[in-house]
Amino acid sequence: MQDAFGRNITYLRLSVTELCNLRCRYCMPPEGIQKRLHEDMLTQEETLLAVKVAAKLGISKVRITGGEPLVKKNILALCQGVADTEGIEELCLTTNGTLLPGLADSLLAAGVRRINISLDTLNPDTYARITRVGKLSDALSGLHAALAAGFEKVKINAVLMGGVNDGEIGSLAELSRAYPVDVRFIELMPMPGSQAFKEAAFVPGEAVLKALPELMPVPQEDGVASLYTLPGAKGRVGLIRPLSCQFCGTCDRLRLTADGRIKPCLHQPLEYPIKGLSEQQMQAQFRRAIQNKPPWHGELSSQSPSRAGRPMHRIGG
Ligand code: 5AD
Ligand code: SF4
Repeated sequence: MQDAFGRNITYLRLSVTELCNLRCRYCMPPEGIQKRLHEDMLTQEETLLAVKVAAKLGISKVRITGGEPLVKKNILALCQGVADTEGIEELCLTTNGTLLPGLADSLLAAGVRRINISLDTLNPDTYARITRVGKLSDALSGLHAALAAGFEKVKINAVLMGGVNDGEIGSLAELSRAYPVDVRFIELMPMPGSQAFKEAAFVPGEAVLKALPELMPVPQEDGVASLYTLPGAKGRVGLIRPLSCQFCGTCDRLRLTADGRIKPCLHQPLEYPIKGLSEQQMQAQFRRAIQNKPPWHGELSSQSPSRAGRPMHRIGG
């Protein structure tokens, strides 16, 4: 279905839990996660009904996110249900990777075709500092499990943070030479609840091009990322620049939160609840969300933080 600005909405980001086994500083408030009532969250049946309704309105690609989707009970049944939904052609999942060693093969069997792994550093101390509680070796085991399982595509997402991991642009990009993976550098977004967004910590995507002059541009193919390759690399290097290079004009996505709210734009407070609704009522809410999708997310900077209205672990990125 097209929105009011002629954008064809074909991609749903489905957050299946607000919970996570990590506590990344740019995503979660220091006090951790608020406890939510089970009855406030979508049931698996409601989630699958929502996917069916969305597919009927033209959604063909679903990405499962969190929190951390792999901490959710019955995640495999949920993936299978989404993959089996008529009209859904592509099922992807974004994870911190730490639970992939036990789940990669089953996720592939359940219909997941592409996996994105969040990995901001290759330094164990920096990993512990960013994630507050995580172990780098768990994330790396997850990456290897994903590669061994044989997904169609494995990507790495690295959020750039000045003074934290901007000295690792080269070593992270090298992963695209060592493995058939795309490494995507993401500009840090000033989200609610994340640790104060400081101008000094913001690193523009451009810094990757400065650090790696040997990067060669490749024809565009990936929605929000500008793509490059290192000489001799199997994978690509991508830049995702929500702040310095906006891509709202070609945005094709909706989000559905774990508590059952359709979010037509990541950085706007606008939400359309679907919890407890019939199929017909859900369809009306999806239509409203698409019709009222804002043309752009508005100014995003340290002076003008995201108006998302909720922290990242309650949206799913
Ligand atoms: N800015 C940029 N990216 C973020 N993510 C989480 N919070 C932020 C933020 N404030 C990323 C995670 C993950 C994806 C789902 O979103 O690193 O890769
Ligand atoms: Fe968890 Fe991902 Fe948020 Fe980190 S960024 S706390 S891994 S949901």
